[in-house]
Amino acid sequence: MKTAIITGVNGQDGSYLAELLLDKGYKVIGLHRHSANLNLENLSEVRDHENFSWECVDITDPSSIFSCISKHQPDELYNLAAQSFVKVSFDQPSTTFEANCVGVVNILEAVKKSCPTCKVYQASTSEMFGKNYSSGFVENIWNTKYQNEETPFIPQSPYGVAKLAAHHMCRLYREGYGMFVCCGILFNHESPRRGHQFVTRKITNYVGELANAKDPKNFRKLELGNLDAQRDWGHARDYVEAMWLMLQHSIPDDYVVSTGKSHTIKELLEKSFDCIGAKWEDHVVINEAYKRPSEVDFLLGDSSKIRNTLKWTPKTSFEMLIVEMVANDIRRYDR
Ligand code: NAP
Ligand code: GDD
Repeated sequence: MKTAIITGVNGQDGSYLAELLLDKGYKVIGLHRHSANLNLENLSEVRDHENFSWECVDITDPSSIFSCISKHQPDELYNLAAQSFVKVSFDQPSTTFEANCVGVVNILEAVKKSCPTCKVYQASTSEMFGKNYSSGFVENIWNTKYQNEETPFIPQSPYGVAKLAAHHMCRLYREGYGMFVCCGILFNHESPRRGHQFVTRKITNYVGELANAKDPKNFRKLELGNLDAQRDWGHARDYVEAMWLMLQHSIPDDYVVSTGKSHTIKELLEKSFDCIGAKWEDHVVINEAYKRPSEVDFLLGDSSKIRNTLKWTPKTSFEMLIVEMVANDIRRYDR
């Protein structure tokens, strides 16, 4: 039986990945950082599974992650732990860097010293591409615009900078020490387990509450920031499969994971409000506080490499994703 460690197990991706690995017959050790007030909602499917256990480890503490890895001698480690909210990274750049870069170095060092055969997955991100679209780097001869493994990184947030530094650290440990380290450059992916501060969930949560409101006309407004940004949104359940596939291949490498379709926040609003026959323009107001000091305007991933090499393909369309999220939030408020 293979053993896998998942950091950030109680987050959106960690919970889907734990389910996938348990289904595949793995023993899974899920790491979370809080011993008190641990939110186990996402783990309801796995918490009682006989091959699942969890431990309290903060990846910014080198000794605790070292002890954990040397004790369990895992075959695979998936590092999903991070301060993952881009907006917060502008207010907390140091703690973001500590978790999203120094934490990764702590893991790489612990694996190198105590379990060098362990295969490592690092959660890199399309946020690392930053403003390359606005800088005109990504126009090709067909005048289409996309980002892939060859696209230059110009991160636009402390979150993106920290993730890019970690991305380079992973490459360094792979090339310098011959370690099996893969980075998934994942584009935005969502689900009913998405944190409420991210724009998709903020919107579907509002729509769910509005659908159950006694007086919808006088219901509070939904306050949002920049509605013109474009994102390539997929489903988290599909994306954790890509993580697993990367570690099953014989050669460690980095891969873009995306749907290849991009939508504006306005399109996201339209699809979400359509689900309940409402018009988003009647409910949304702009609040400057939700805008960022610097924005990533446009993300559209070209994931040909993982589709061709690892035969990965996304199963959930943008429309299916939004319908699932809205339906889930309508149910939550229908009590
Ligand atoms: P998430 O729901 O925010 O989960 C992040 C997890 O990391 C949480 O369980 C959090 O614990 C934990 N964590 C934070 N700081 C930690 C620390 N110092 N030590 C240990 N654990 C810590 O994020 P997600 O959407 O599942 O994303 C998973 C990973 O993929 C993240 O690294 C994210 O940056 C990256 N990523 C996400 C996307 C996306 O669109 N979802 C795209 C590209 C990359 P608490 O619950 O205690 O805060
Ligand atoms: N969160 C939020 N809240 N975003 C808003 C709002 C709002 O009220 N109004 C507009 N937006 C815009 C943001 O400015 C951004 O352009 C877009 O919606 C998406 O924001 P988020 O959902 O917060 O996601 P993100 O793209 O910044 O970051 C997510 O994706 C990255 C991959 O590209 C996170 O999951 C990161 O962890 C991940 O790396």
